[in-house]
Amino acid sequence: MTVRVALIGCGFFARNHMLAWRDLPGAKVVAVCDLDSGRAGNFAAEFGAEAFTDPAVMLAEVRPDATDIVTTVASHRKLVTLAVQHSGAVICQKPFAASLTDGQAMVSACAAADVPLFVHENFRWQAPWRAVQARLAAGVVGTPRFLRLSFRHAFDIYTAQPYLAEEPDLALMDVGLHLFDMASCLMGDVVRVSCETQRLNPRVAGQDAFQALLRHSSGAVSSVECSFFAQLSPDPFPQTLGRVEGDAGTLEVLAGYRLRQHGSDGPADIDVEPELPIWGARPWHLIQDSVCAFQTHVLEVLAGRAQPQPSGADNLRTLAVTLAAIRAAKSGATLVPEGAAPG
Ligand SMILES: NC(=O)c1ccc[n+]([C@@H]2O[C@H](COP(=O)([O-])OP(=O)(O)OC[C@H]3O[C@@H](n4cnc5c(N)ncnc54)[C@H](O)[C@@H]3O)[C@@H](O)[C@H]2O)c1
Repeated sequence: MTVRVALIGCGFFARNHMLAWRDLPGAKVVAVCDLDSGRAGNFAAEFGAEAFTDPAVMLAEVRPDATDIVTTVASHRKLVTLAVQHSGAVICQKPFAASLTDGQAMVSACAAADVPLFVHENFRWQAPWRAVQARLAAGVVGTPRFLRLSFRHAFDIYTAQPYLAEEPDLALMDVGLHLFDMASCLMGDVVRVSCETQRLNPRVAGQDAFQALLRHSSGAVSSVECSFFAQLSPDPFPQTLGRVEGDAGTLEVLAGYRLRQHGSDGPADIDVEPELPIWGARPWHLIQDSVCAFQTHVLEVLAGRAQPQPSGADNLRTLAVTLAAIRAAKSGATLVPEGAAPG
């Protein structure tokens, strides 16, 4: 069976979605929609899909197996609650929502209709961190106690995504939520957050760096840091570096796609560079491969062989951590994310 996909939002990042869907046996994007008819028409012509400018018209006509929403956050609630009425599954890009009220409304609408809701959180699907997840599951570091995640670069992200230069909580709302999703996936639920933010690049309006400290329900601690203005040579963009320390060993994700495993026999380095998709290019292949991995996972879920990772409900908890980090940075307090049990 071919999964019929309808995509909404034919902008910068949607190109990766379209190219990855095209490569996946078992899926076909049959319709695309953008308020901008030129953008929808270009994608439709390039990928052999039908073009629409009104999501309601497209969804009522096409009734897809999955709707892939690749618009910016302000439109997500309206589009997800529309898509759930017409499609078998809904995928929403991050940031899932700007508020917990909007996030909860989307989770509730999909739960009431018994329609799976995915949030496109591709960082946890990046090859080096998939390799870490597999080793943690195999117990190679014992019980994980400490995580460091570091995403620091000065790559120009503003030319392709001009809206980022206006985002007040830039680093936390653009990449912080990816990193908090990874931290929860690797170390469990977050029960306490403190955070410092900085505005470093004079070209942008918002806080473009942060350092957060997380306490997990297991007692583990994570140090999560991000800067969009770290002057490094070579610039590691778009790699997330870091380490997990457990009571029986340590795993380090190092620049250049090296995974270093420290065990009783000493350190061993493993090459965890992702594959270059046939349509991909370095250094984007890390992200492009993760989009392929995430979309492959969507098909696994639709075939009944997996549960969404992350689901809308999972990502609501990540949003609560992100919003708590924003409030913690403003107030200087250490906070419990909304809905989390105090640690
Ligand atoms: N996961 C990642 O690694 C990653 C990377 C980059 C961007 N993103 C996310 O992807 C999303 C899109 O970002 P982008 O840079 O592609 O944005 P973009 O502005 O380039 O594209 C968004 C498109 O959606 C269209 N659109 C908006 N509202 C619509 C509606 N109601 N109906 C139909 N079309 C509508 C716009 O016309 C535009 O063409 C953002 O939420 C961003 O955070 C994720």
